[in-house]
Amino acid sequence: MSDKPTVLVTGGAGYIGSHAVLALKDAGYGVVVIDNLVTGFDWAVPDGVPLVRGDIADQPLVEATLRAHDVKAIMHFAGSVVVPESVDNPLKYYHNNSAKTRDLIESAVRVGVPHFIFSSTAATYGTPDVEAVREDTPQQPINPYGMSKLMTEYMLRDVAAAHPMNFCALRYFNVAGADPQGRTGQSTAGATHLIKVAVEAALGKRESVAIFGTDFDTPDGTGVRDYIHVSDLAAAHLLALEALMAEPDRNHLLNCGYGRGFSVLEVLDAVDRATNMPVKRVMTGRRAGDPGKLISDNGAILKTFPWTPRHADLDQIVAHALAWERKLGER
Ligand code: UFG
Repeated sequence: MSDKPTVLVTGGAGYIGSHAVLALKDAGYGVVVIDNLVTGFDWAVPDGVPLVRGDIADQPLVEATLRAHDVKAIMHFAGSVVVPESVDNPLKYYHNNSAKTRDLIESAVRVGVPHFIFSSTAATYGTPDVEAVREDTPQQPINPYGMSKLMTEYMLRDVAAAHPMNFCALRYFNVAGADPQGRTGQSTAGATHLIKVAVEAALGKRESVAIFGTDFDTPDGTGVRDYIHVSDLAAAHLLALEALMAEPDRNHLLNCGYGRGFSVLEVLDAVDRATNMPVKRVMTGRRAGDPGKLISDNGAILKTFPWTPRHADLDQIVAHALAWERKLGER
């Protein structure tokens, strides 16, 4: 038996959550997952990790789970993540991401869970007019998704001030790639994220990739993003947990990115290199609400945690995404 504590992972059957579950398990932590399996998959939860099928706002269920497993920290990934959907259906996002998280936090407070790690997002910044976004760059979300996550940051700040709980909010930039050992990856149908879409096209699962805008103020006119490998992101969550346990009076709000950007064309070139075949590109207009460039300043996380990214390489991110996409095709 490990002497490391047990962590409840909400959304642990989903893309990023399932990578965090593996990272926790690999590091010897106890893990229990709660997931409603709306976008997650039971097979994404490794053998030996209990999966509670249910809702994060089901307080009797959550509180019984926290008590039964003597949970000492919550990593909260469960939520809705599609930006355009949040524009069409804002109440779904305020319900799933803000209101249900409020109930989850209340359960944590009632049971006395001392640490909370939250999946926040670069979308809380909106369209910042800076070279690299720092944590103190004003947060002005331009869509309900970003606002629903920012509301949770505020809730955690206030709750941590009032109750014996500390928290870390990690503001993810563009998460991509898959477990290097091929144990899990991005599996939800109807993907909209560039690297996922591009590897689907590379494997003939879709006709082409639309390039949303070629007239941005960027070197080649296409959108520039800070793509971070999902396993490096999972590793950051473990370091966040260690930091929260080491200093119970300290909270953290940190960007998670590599601090450098790639354009849509550079990403598609990397996919072409990986398969040695060009994916069909279709130039279209801008997608509503897309900033031209979103790159993190990651100085704070590098200074705060001993975080050494191991996969900060676009070709590797693409290779892992492609390997997982091939595996999904065989399922
Ligand atoms: N893009 C295309 N074609 C596609 C998909 C994307 O050209 O088929 C472009 C986008 O216009 C953008 C870049 O590729 O320039 C990345 O787009 P994604 O959809 O992959 O990711 P976003 O930057 O829009 O969104 C990401 C996260 C969100 C988060 C947001 C923060 O996926 O969850 O960053 O701004 F909210």
